[in-house]
Amino acid sequence: MPEPYIRAALPDDDEELSALDRAIWSYLHAVQPEPQPPYDPFFSGRHAPEDTLVAELDRRIVGYVRLGFAYNIASNAHVRQIQGLAVAEEARGHGVARTLLRAVMEEARGRGARRIRLGVLGHNAPARRLYESEGFAVEGVLPGEFLLGGEYVDDVIMGRAL
Ligand SMILES: CC(C)(COP(=O)(O)OP(=O)(O)OC[C@H]1O[C@@H](n2cnc3c(N)ncnc32)[C@H](O)[C@@H]1OP(=O)(O)O)[C@@H](O)C(=O)NCCC(=O)NCCS
Repeated sequence: MPEPYIRAALPDDDEELSALDRAIWSYLHAVQPEPQPPYDPFFSGRHAPEDTLVAELDRRIVGYVRLGFAYNIASNAHVRQIQGLAVAEEARGHGVARTLLRAVMEEARGRGARRIRLGVLGHNAPARRLYESEGFAVEGVLPGEFLLGGEYVDDVIMGRAL
């Protein structure tokens, strides 16, 4: 598979990103129930296109990563949070997520961040392995934070310096 092309998202990507999110929905990573129509837009006041990077293959979006702030306060402005990372099922296993993760760390550095962190579900082994392999360490565990499909699942906080 060729290297994905990484670019900033555009407002027009909303529908494609929303469809990608719906197609891959699973309690392995999602903390909300499966989306039902009418679907929410992908972008919102909290998640703007300019805070999202997309990965394209053959001009089709096959993945995205979203960057945000953990807290909207000046004393925490040096920390960024990854608020979503996903790859289409048919594009998995070819390094798309790793490319997106490296790109978003570069983007965060460029915006002046010194640290980056995220929350990942305890049972999401593929994502945890990816983050570990990119230098993220477990910085905290919120035990049984989410009740998903009848199971209590930990929220694992991972982070690293930039
Ligand atoms: C997790 C996810 C983003 C990985 O995307 P991907 O493009 O397939 O990942 P990559 O090909 O870049 O893999 C990078 C590393 O991740 C880990 N990894 C990826 N898939 C894995 C799997 N099925 N099992 C174990 N490790 C896996 C490996 O360490 C891999 O490195 P390697 O190929 O050298 O072994 C993708 O499975 C996904 O979208 N899952 C659903 C959404 C999600 O869980 N997002 C994270 C929320 S915190």
